[in-house]
Order: sequence, then C-alpha cells, then structure tokens
Amino acid sequence: METKQQRDPVILGIESSCDDTAAAVVRGRILLSNIIANQEVHRVYGGVVPELASRAHQQNIIPVVDRAIRVAGVGIGDIDAIAFTNGPGLLGSLLVGTSFAKGFSIARDIPMIEVNHLHAHILVHFLQRTGEHKDSPAFPFLSLLVSGGHTQIVVVRDFLEMEIIGKTIDDAAGEAFDKCAKVMGLPYPGGPLIDRLAAEGNPERFRFNKPVIEGLDYSFSGLKTSFLYFLRDRLRDNPDFIEENRNDLAASLQKTIIDILLSKLKRAVRKTGIREIALAGGVSANSGLRETLRHLSVKSDWNLYIPEFSYTTDNAAMIAITGYYKYLRGEVAGDDVVPVARMHF
Ligand code: KG4
Ligand code: ZN
Repeated sequence: METKQQRDPVILGIESSCDDTAAAVVRGRILLSNIIANQEVHRVYGGVVPELASRAHQQNIIPVVDRAIRVAGVGIGDIDAIAFTNGPGLLGSLLVGTSFAKGFSIARDIPMIEVNHLHAHILVHFLQRTGEHKDSPAFPFLSLLVSGGHTQIVVVRDFLEMEIIGKTIDDAAGEAFDKCAKVMGLPYPGGPLIDRLAAEGNPERFRFNKPVIEGLDYSFSGLKTSFLYFLRDRLRDNPDFIEENRNDLAASLQKTIIDILLSKLKRAVRKTGIREIALAGGVSANSGLRETLRHLSVKSDWNLYIPEFSYTTDNAAMIAITGYYKYLRGEVAGDDVVPVARMHF
C-alpha cells in the first residue's frame, strides 16, 4: 500500500493577505487546483477597506478551500501540510488565513507552514501543470518583483535564500498605476484598466518626470505628483482633456513606469552579472511590461521567465509551491505562529 512518504507531498496553500481569498493544492510541484474569490466590495471605495476585507475572508475561506480540495481531486486525508501567508499584508486579513490554518492543522494533525507572500510571488516560476515540462529559472537569478505593495529587485540564490538589492523608497509600481488611474477617474484597481487603454494609445505623446535615485532603488511618488499637476494644468484650459486623451495618457504613463522599472533592472544585471531574469507580482500582468521586457531580453541575451497570467496577481498556488519547498526542508511553524503585517525577507 502506498504511504504518504512514498509519494510527493500534497500541500494545501492559503492566501488572505489583502483582498483575495485563495486556496490551492499542489502535489510536489504539480498544481492540482487554484481557486480565488475576489472581493468586489472594495470597488466603490476606490481602494481596499481593511475591515471589509477581513469580513469577506471569513465568509469566503471555507467555500474556497472546499472547492480547491474538490477540484484537486484529492481526499482531505491526503493533505500532508497546510501552508499559509503570514505576511506581509493587512493584519486582519492575515489573521483569517492563519487561524484557519491552525484549526485545519490541529483537526487533521498535519504540520502548518508559514509563507512570506513576497517569497511566494517569486517562486511561482517553479509551478508545473500535469504533463508540462516548463523551464524554471536557474539559480542564481534576478527577480523583478512588482506588485501593489512592493517593487524590488531580488537576487534569488536558492528557493529560500533571497536578497533584496533594490527597492522602492516610497510607492510601489502598482500603486503608481492605481493612484494615477484614480486621478484619471478610473475605478480601483486602475492598473489593468491603464493596460487596456494603453494598448490603443500613443506612448510618446506625453512626457512625465522620471525620478533621479542613486543605485538600484526606485521611487514612484514623484511620478504620481507630476501626473497630477500635469492634468490639473491641462484641465484648466480644457475640462474634457482626460476624456479626449484617455488612451494617450494611459500609454504615456505606462511607458514611463516601464522605463523606470527596466532602467534599474539593466543596472542590476550589469552590477551582478546575472542574466537569468524572472518577473513576478501583480504588475507583471501588464502587457506593455511583458512585451518590452521580452524585446530587451532578446537584445541583451537574457534568459527571461514571465509568469502565466493566473500566477501574476495574488493567488494561493504560489503559497502552496513555497510551502512545498519549506516542507522538504522540514521548515514547519509552531502553534504559536502569528501573522506579521510588515516584514521583508
Ligand atoms: O501582487 P498583487 O496582486 O497584490 C499585491 O501583493 O500587491 O498586485 C496588485 C497590483 C495592483 O496595483 C494592480 O493595479 C496591479 O497589480 N496590476 C496591474 C495589472 N494587473 C494588476 N498593473 C498594471 N497592469 C496590469 N495589467
Ligand atoms: Zn501580492
């Protein structure tokens, strides 16, 4: 009879750090299910309302986990460990996932594994689907991690050995997309909408200030201010300016953000000599960024890894795969584990 030890471990992953309640199951590196419940409740507020997010997680978590286990086609008794995001994120949201993981771990008598959300975004490149033989980045690689909360260049030496060599000193790239979109009157989250409008616009039409920051760090707060003042001045002469120039504004803004992101990435490649490049995080869904990075990689002879769309924004598949690598190393959490809202690596 097959025992748990003879086969790849089955890991249930839980993600609840912000406004998506997600659960996924992997067997080894193979993704068996990946379920996400988005929280529409925040849209009318123009941003995530933490109190509402935790309540929605409470409502969603059991049905989402139930669905993930059923879609995976595994029995509840087949699950070897439960991995959960313990930070960074909104504390109330993280508490829902952590408490669920504790209850599940005690009820099933299996270990729980705490996962850093940022590590997890980076490790999506190691997920495989049944029958798929996708190349994964070779160590060491550089990860450009661009999300709504973080913008970092990370040297990844091993699955759990990572070093941040550049990061934003203020806003994240996703925040720049979202805040500028809000100024244009677009609903939250604005990033995907800017992407869609930009596809029809002229990226060279308008110029916005780019930050001058030493080294590999980023800054995006100046861009938001320069965008705001630019629009304020134009709207004074023409109240329909945004309406009449929506696509060109989106395309020019997107190009500026991409230029800022890639100029530091090029510098990081020069500094480290690493030409293995992996993109990660919510903003890696941006079609302009994906396309520009593809061209740059061909021109610069880099090996580029771009995540599937379903792995770009927050998901639990990335938590489950990170849990798998921690499980292999015996890195399990004690039952006194608590979520941490602000954490790095
Ligand atoms: O990684 P993620 O789901 O959540 C965080 O951990 O922050 O990233 C969400 C961010 C939001 O700022 C959203 O606007 C941005 O990713 N985003 C995009 C696109 N899709 C999501 N930004 C630009 N273009 C997109 N297609
Ligand atoms: Zn994220």
